[in-house]
Amino acid sequence: MNTPNHHLLVCGSFRANGERQGVCFKKDSMSLLSYLQNEIQDRMMDGVEVCVTGCLNMCTKGPVIIDYPSGNTYTGITEEAIDAILDAFEEGSVATDYLAS
Ligand code: FES
Repeated sequence: MNTPNHHLLVCGSFRANGERQGVCFKKDSMSLLSYLQNEIQDRMMDGVEVCVTGCLNMCTKGPVIIDYPSGNTYTGITEEAIDAILDAFEEGSVATDYLAS
């Protein structure tokens, strides 16, 4: 496996005991995960990988996605935000409207 250009860590709100709690889960981050994966497939984007994480400790700004290796953190994620983030990847830019402040 090649190192992805963008490895997107999507907060799944998992706590240490495995329970899902927190803002991201309550704001339906799992549906957003599905939307994100479908968009990546539909756009046939290479070099973009997705995984689900435990709480990223930015709960009040959730749902949250962190992009590695850039380290860019996106907050308040919606389907529109995902579209903007992926559009920016395709353009070689950054969706600054959704960057954590
Ligand atoms: S639940 Fe997503 S950052 Fe805490």
